[in-house]
Amino acid sequence: MAMGRKKLFIANLKMYLSHAEEIAYLKTLPTPKSDDTLVVMPSALTIATKPEWQPHNIALGAQVCSPFPSGPFTGQVRATDLAALGCRFCLIGHSEQRTIDNDIDLLGKQTHQVVLAGMIPVICLGFGAEEHEGTSIADSLIEEMTTLLAHGLQGISLFPSEIIIAYEPTWAIGTGSTPSLVHIDDIATKLQRAANQLISHPTRTLVLYGGSVNKENARDIVALPGIDGVLIGKASVNGKELENILE
Ligand code: PGA
Repeated sequence: MAMGRKKLFIANLKMYLSHAEEIAYLKTLPTPKSDDTLVVMPSALTIATKPEWQPHNIALGAQVCSPFPSGPFTGQVRATDLAALGCRFCLIGHSEQRTIDNDIDLLGKQTHQVVLAGMIPVICLGFGAEEHEGTSIADSLIEEMTTLLAHGLQGISLFPSEIIIAYEPTWAIGTGSTPSLVHIDDIATKLQRAANQLISHPTRTLVLYGGSVNKENARDIVALPGIDGVLIGKASVNGKELENILE
């Protein structure tokens, strides 16, 4: 994608592919343009196989991790293990996870574990934001971001190089509908401004948009001045479509 500044593309594979299909997919990943970064988030099982497919500008990320460091938490995966297996990024509070558990306190703890493990949190905001009455969408997103960052960075001595905020309106995820470009840019700019006020150390905040990004709309969204990249779900599972999005 011919842009002035470096962009971040995150491919969230969700649970679309089997483990064997994910391994095959990873072997044929398109390479992003020079300075751009592609982050691929496969299943934890695929991450554990430590696939040797990574060119320097493709990174590995996790879709979720435990909010706890260790202990009796059936079915959960430690942030430190994901980091040790090569994950540089981890999603926090994706709306599909929030339909199972939307406890803000646990999401704050999860953010903290991700940062402690040395990974970059990708904080997904947008779940239910359109339902808040009397509060603007931007204000309710900023309030939630403030809580998550306060929890996440509490007592941290080594700050992450980047924190990523992904604006993902629930109604746009997997539906083929997207908000207007003006709306996306407006929310992204407000989130960026608020994050800069909250984080007073050399951590960079990047703001992404996610929700029905595809090869038809990616170019316009990524070109918005307030947007640093996109979080792609379904369209990223098709290698050819992902290649078109990266161009
Ligand atoms: P979608 O998913 O691109 O399939 O809408 C985006 C996401 O869930 O992050």
